[in-house]
Amino acid sequence: MQKYVINGKKPLYGTVEISGAKNAAVAILPAALLVDGVCRIENIPQISDVTLILRILQELGADVRLINKNTVQIDSTHINRYHVPEKLSRQMRASYYFIGALLGRFGEAVVSMPGGCDLGTRPIDLHIKSFQSLGASVNVVAGYVRASAPEEGLKGTSIYLDQASVGATMNAMLAASTAHGLTIIENAAKEPHIVDLANFLNAMGADIMGAGTDVIRIRGVRELHGGTYSIIPDQIEAGTYMAAVAAVGGDVIIKNVIPKHLDCISAKLMEMGVHVEEMGDAVRVRRMGELRRINVRTMPYPGFPTDMQPQIAACLCLANGTSMVNEGIWENRYRYVSEFRRMGARIQVDGKVAVIEGVDRLMGATLCACDLRAGAAMVIAGLAAEGTTEISRIHYIERGYEKLVEKFQGLGADIKLVEQPDDETRPHSRAV
Ligand code: UD1
Repeated sequence: MQKYVINGKKPLYGTVEISGAKNAAVAILPAALLVDGVCRIENIPQISDVTLILRILQELGADVRLINKNTVQIDSTHINRYHVPEKLSRQMRASYYFIGALLGRFGEAVVSMPGGCDLGTRPIDLHIKSFQSLGASVNVVAGYVRASAPEEGLKGTSIYLDQASVGATMNAMLAASTAHGLTIIENAAKEPHIVDLANFLNAMGADIMGAGTDVIRIRGVRELHGGTYSIIPDQIEAGTYMAAVAAVGGDVIIKNVIPKHLDCISAKLMEMGVHVEEMGDAVRVRRMGELRRINVRTMPYPGFPTDMQPQIAACLCLANGTSMVNEGIWENRYRYVSEFRRMGARIQVDGKVAVIEGVDRLMGATLCACDLRAGAAMVIAGLAAEGTTEISRIHYIERGYEKLVEKFQGLGADIKLVEQPDDETRPHSRAV
């Protein structure tokens, strides 16, 4: 076991480079299963969720070669299995993309119900309904999703999503890419990683239009061919460094970003009094004065992302006045609150709403990460706090942040990765 040890209150200065987007990579890598040939995928982030997806691809029989630390070559020509082992798929939510990809490739998929961070109920009913609309029969038996296409193959159709689900939109795109005829997804999610998956599939020969709007049209093609593709920068990783500068203070250039994807985050930081300046494929973030209170409501893109809610809450703990946060996507996204309170934060939670009364200072404490973004928020709080903060269960954080310690050290933060003796680990009641 390892932990982070942070000595806080050191303003951040310099430049940090953002890695490829986790939520794009975890869909695009399984999508390589649809391709009869070799895909070279660049700008993949070096994070544990990606390692897991690559292991699943290998277990299914794909030839997976790391060309360098951020480029992988996947040859799915001789893939011969459609059963994703439970021990791997239960470790992450995004393993559900193997259902759409295997169904599209073989007309068959057996994948155990996905795991991942515990953010409350995380149903996949919309994914299942989409596969059924395409003609597949889908059963959930003994914790496994078993999906089968009819003998004549999947057939294009109209899919209306009751909620603009990211996962269901991408899974429907995967299964429909090689179905017969036209599929129209209405009320589709519009997140940047949805556009990235569509661009990847189109680069491999698919015919997808409208990704990034709420109606996506997919004309099925007979087969996809190999090619090279580079994943977009990670909106949430960039937002996390932006929030860190806001909370701790300093002046940082955040490179390799698509500023448009950050508008929803920049707008809120600017409302708090933080300077955010676009510079081509970078943003410069400066915070010299005090932080102002704001209200935040999380919503599907282009709204403020739920995956940035804990990080902005860390900033609001130190803002002048009382802020309100309204979580519009997940029911269980305030598990970090008890940890922040250990640092002196004043937060009350009532259902989906958190009321945060800004305090003059946070004090370092011993914390336990409870999910990926909550863990990132604890890092921000630790960097902004007086004294020493120790964060355990960092495997949650390493699911989604490449070289977090090195990147913050590069900005002048005093953060270290240290071995943690077993007897030091605080039990956590709700960890998954
Ligand atoms: C993805 C992201 C996650 C992010 C979330 C919302 C990945 C791997 N994960 O998760 O980091 O927090 O988008 O931006 O990309 N819902 C249903 N039925 C379904 C599917 C979803 O009711 O079949 C509901 C969920 O309970 C939730 C909402 O729809 O309230 C949005 O979920 P969804 O967009 O599907 O999130 P994920 O794709 O799981």
